[in-house]
Amino acid sequence: MSLAAEADDVKPVTTRSLSTVGVGSLEDWEERLAPAAAQVVVGDARSTGLADNSVDLIVTSPPYWQKRDYGHDDQIGQEPTPQAYVESMMECLDEWRRVLRSTGSIFLNVGDTYYNRSLMGIPGLLEFGAVQRGWLIRNRIIWTKDSGMPEPAKNRLANRHEYIIHLAFKSSYYYDLVGYSEYMGNGANPGDVWNINPERNMGSHLAPYPQELVRRAVMLGCPPQVCETCQKPRARVFERTDQLDPERPQARRAMELAKEHQLTPDHIRAIQATGVSDVGKATKFQNGTGRNSPEVQRLAAEAKAALGGYFREFTFAKKITTGWTDCGHGTPTRGVVLDPFMGTGTTLKTATKMGRDAIGVDLVPLMQEPEVPGEQGMPKRSVTQSNG
Ligand SMILES: C[S@@+](CC[C@H](N)C(=O)[O-])C[C@H]1O[C@@H](n2cnc3c(N)ncnc32)[C@H](O)[C@@H]1O
Repeated sequence: MSLAAEADDVKPVTTRSLSTVGVGSLEDWEERLAPAAAQVVVGDARSTGLADNSVDLIVTSPPYWQKRDYGHDDQIGQEPTPQAYVESMMECLDEWRRVLRSTGSIFLNVGDTYYNRSLMGIPGLLEFGAVQRGWLIRNRIIWTKDSGMPEPAKNRLANRHEYIIHLAFKSSYYYDLVGYSEYMGNGANPGDVWNINPERNMGSHLAPYPQELVRRAVMLGCPPQVCETCQKPRARVFERTDQLDPERPQARRAMELAKEHQLTPDHIRAIQATGVSDVGKATKFQNGTGRNSPEVQRLAAEAKAALGGYFREFTFAKKITTGWTDCGHGTPTRGVVLDPFMGTGTTLKTATKMGRDAIGVDLVPLMQEPEVPGEQGMPKRSVTQSNG
């Protein structure tokens, strides 16, 4: 058996079972949907006036505590204490939970503030408040930057990171880890540190919120299409192959060993059924999990004896997308991304470029016109006043 990673040698080894839905393509519907559009609402993030269950993902960067004064009576960020700021943000979370569909989630970009020479621990206070209200903190992503504003302090390090807190209120939130891992160029889970440097836009001004940050959040958390009837997001259907990434030396060694020991596709299937969690228990006594049949356990043990520490490489084998779930109700709509503190509209621009509809709410929206007339991504703009 050849384990070389040739494009035409892809052998699917597992098939995800889909008992209640069929599988279809995204492209079939994509052609029939209206172009992705952006809508701007002038209003407060705590009372957006948007309909219940109308949003798939929130990606946003609120004003940080005691940083920039936006000069508006209803602004968030200038509260006298961290506790009062957290209270305002909790009101936001209550509102956002109302507008999110049950499969929705939030990527919340927050930073901390020094006050009386101490960090106030704002991200932690927000997380604590959210958990108290029943939210699930799924990740605290560390957004690192190679450089930043010079800081005058002589007795502490300059701040070069912020947080992106990923919150959901049900464990069945939409999440496309397979698509994201593919985008990040590695079959494995790419981890919770994002190194993204500020982008230059709007002439000489530095954008505080890079498009790449939004891109990753949308890719992970916003379905491209959602059923209008049952509100189910269309989810990627994929199969695992026995193909490894030939760019990685460990993967190449794993393929060599598999060839040398004449491992079969059944061995690879057994490795994938047994999973990476068993590897830590060492090859000496490991013979598979109790969930697998004795034959799968035997094959996995044989494979472990042959591959040693390289066994785990086959649990990262490439996945191929075979379609997207289809509930069969007919025309879907585009997934919807909301930024309730839209500022200059980075979220809206990125989301529409990615084929999602987008809504921005702000007390004072600052969205610029597209730099290139007719630039793809902002085909429609409408501005409404929130009643909320
Ligand atoms: C940090 S900026 C957002 C930056 C944005 N991510 C961008 O790339 O331009 C925060 C925004 O929140 C808005 N804002 C402040 N308080 C608000 C509130 N209560 N409701 C809605 N927007 C608010 C401000 O007007 C400002 O535009």
